[in-house]
Amino acid sequence: MNKQIILDAFLFRHACKEFDPQAHIPDEDFLFLLETARLSPSSFGFEPWQFLVIQDMELRKKLLPHTWGAQGQIPTASHFVVCLAMKTPLLKYDSPRIADFMRQVQKLPEDGIAARTKYFQTFQESDLRLLDNERAMFDWACKQCYIAMANMMTAAALIGIDSCPIEGFIREKVETVLEKEFDIDLEKYGLAYMLAFGYRLKAPRPKTRQNLDQIVRWL
Ligand SMILES: Cc1cc2nc3c(=O)[nH]c(=O)nc-3n(C[C@H](O)[C@H](O)[C@H](O)COP(=O)(O)O)c2cc1C
Repeated sequence: MNKQIILDAFLFRHACKEFDPQAHIPDEDFLFLLETARLSPSSFGFEPWQFLVIQDMELRKKLLPHTWGAQGQIPTASHFVVCLAMKTPLLKYDSPRIADFMRQVQKLPEDGIAARTKYFQTFQESDLRLLDNERAMFDWACKQCYIAMANMMTAAALIGIDSCPIEGFIREKVETVLEKEFDIDLEKYGLAYMLAFGYRLKAPRPKTRQNLDQIVRWL
C-alpha cells in the first residue's frame, strides 16, 4: 500500500462543520464504515459499544437543543451516529453479559471462561480499579469506543467521505432524550460521542498541527 495514499486521507479528513444536504452516502459505503467499527479492537475483546444510526430527522431534531457542537452537522449529515458506551451492569467481570459473550461470541470452553473471568476480575478490581466507581468503568468503555470512532473516520476519508466527531453536547440532557425518545436504558448505557458523516460543502481551513519534535520524546 502506498503510504502517501494513507497520509492524503489523513489530510483530507477534517472536522466538517456542514455537509451537502443533498448528498447521500451509498448504503454499501456506510456499511463498510460500520464494518471498520465492528472490527475495531476492544479490551479483552468485549466490545463495550452500541452504535445508533439516526436517520429519522424528527429524532435528530430532538438531539439538536443539547448538542451545541453539531448545529450544522445534525441537519445536514447523510448519516448520523450516536455511540453508546456500556456501563457496569454489562461489563463487570461477573455480569451475565460477559459470561454469555465469552460463550456465544468468543466460543470459549467452560474452563476457559472460568480462567478468563478470574483474570478479568483482577484487571477490573486492582489493575485498573474499574470498580471504584461507575464513572471509572464508563470512561474505560468510552476510551474503547473512541478507537472505533477513529477507525470509521479514517476509513471514511480513504473513500472520500467527510466526517465530524462530536463531543459538544450536554451529556445529561442528551441522555434524558435518549432514554425518553430512543428507549435507551441508562442503567446499562451512556452517551460516549456522536459522529456525523456526509460530503463537504466548503473547502476546509488549512490544517494546524504542532511539529513532531514538539509532541514526541525519543528516550
Ligand atoms: C473527541 C472529539 C470531539 C470533538 N467535538 C467536536 C464538536 O462537538 N463539534 C465540532 O465541530 N468539532 C468537534 N471536534 C473536532 C475538533 O475540533 C477538530 O478535530 C480539531 O479542531 C482539529 O481539526 P481537524 O479535525 O479539522 O483537523 C471534536 C474532535 C474530537 C476528537
